[in-house]
Amino acid sequence: MTSITLSGLRKSFGATEVLKGVDLQIGAGEFTVILGPSGCGKSTLLRLVAGLENATGGRIRIGERDVSGLEPRDRGCAMVFQNYALYPHMSVAENIAYALRVDRAPRAERRRRAEEIARLVQLDGLLDRKPAELSGGQRQRVAMARAIIRAPRVFLFDEPLSNLDAELRVQMRHEVRRIHEEVGATSIFVTHDQVEAMTLADRLVVMRGGEIQQVGAPAEVYERPQTLYVAKFIGSPSMGTIRGTYCAGARALRLPDGQALCVGDRLPGFADGTDVVAAIRPEALRFAADGQGLRARLRFSEELGSARLHHFEVAGEAVPMVAADRRPLEQGAVAALDAPIADLHFFDPETGTRHPA
Ligand SMILES: Nc1ncnc2c1ncn2[C@@H]1O[C@H](COP(=O)(O)OP(=O)(O)OP(=O)(O)O)[C@@H](O)[C@H]1O
Ligand SMILES: [Mg+2]
Repeated sequence: MTSITLSGLRKSFGATEVLKGVDLQIGAGEFTVILGPSGCGKSTLLRLVAGLENATGGRIRIGERDVSGLEPRDRGCAMVFQNYALYPHMSVAENIAYALRVDRAPRAERRRRAEEIARLVQLDGLLDRKPAELSGGQRQRVAMARAIIRAPRVFLFDEPLSNLDAELRVQMRHEVRRIHEEVGATSIFVTHDQVEAMTLADRLVVMRGGEIQQVGAPAEVYERPQTLYVAKFIGSPSMGTIRGTYCAGARALRLPDGQALCVGDRLPGFADGTDVVAAIRPEALRFAADGQGLRARLRFSEELGSARLHHFEVAGEAVPMVAADRRPLEQGAVAALDAPIADLHFFDPETGTRHPA
């Protein structure tokens, strides 16, 4: 199995710097998901690894080899794209075995291998159909099979599921994971869908503006976001944030409207008067007993089916709350919220880095 190492990887298109020095170590056989907003450089990163684009600076190692100067075909990567562009005039079997045909493998060998891979991706029985006679999910599986047949050392996926409807997406997500477990190739999967990212990844890489913000197991990134950006980006609905000034004596943040948010001993050694951003997951907020907690005004509520999503405002800032008890509240109502100290995350308002680091 094959590890991948990116060091100081840079890419510019003209004057635009798209990747600003990416360092990333991917273990052999690992399923790594790169998550980030549109335009942050995810596809560019993948294309650099595949060799479809030349880096402006930095090195790429696949296994023991530095592949930075190698042609795509010499890198041992197979790529699956969002637009999987099957050959419409060829059967499923011919599409799957296309790479073997290019390598001039005999017809019987091609058929045998296509049948073998088709079983793996559960396309057996469909080998003689044309792509137009398949569902979206089946076409996606042909695209996967076509990549698998090359026995790549590395799989690169660029938003391969985004053309599918919601239900099929979930189903294919499980398929991708199952196939990964059977094939075992080191995989990099790019998406801007955070649920896809959380559920698929062994390791999650959050990118923003051509830079890596955080790398870690999905649960670790969720529970301990290292930057305010990651805190807001991961999780739906997003975390609420409240700005305040640390008051060491009261062990609380003083909010702009004069309220106090208790922080206990969570900010050890912090100087009195330090500006801090506190963040909290909507699921962690509770209704407080009367006369206690933070005063919050309801902007509006949304029904989630299993819960109610209340969009509160605390000291002028948006603080969403997911309430399991679905207690109806009127727009403009004032409620008291309890933000458990253990559930608070703190960040530097200037740099966005986590407190304490
Ligand atoms: N060939 C190119 N020439 C000039 N600029 C480019 C080129 N390819 C990409 N870019 C720019 O580089 C940035 C990153 O593009 P990239 O395709 O890597 O983003 P992405 O993270 O994959 O986004 P999306 O989620 O929308 O696919 C974008 O601002 C894009 O406009
Ligand atoms: Mg892209």
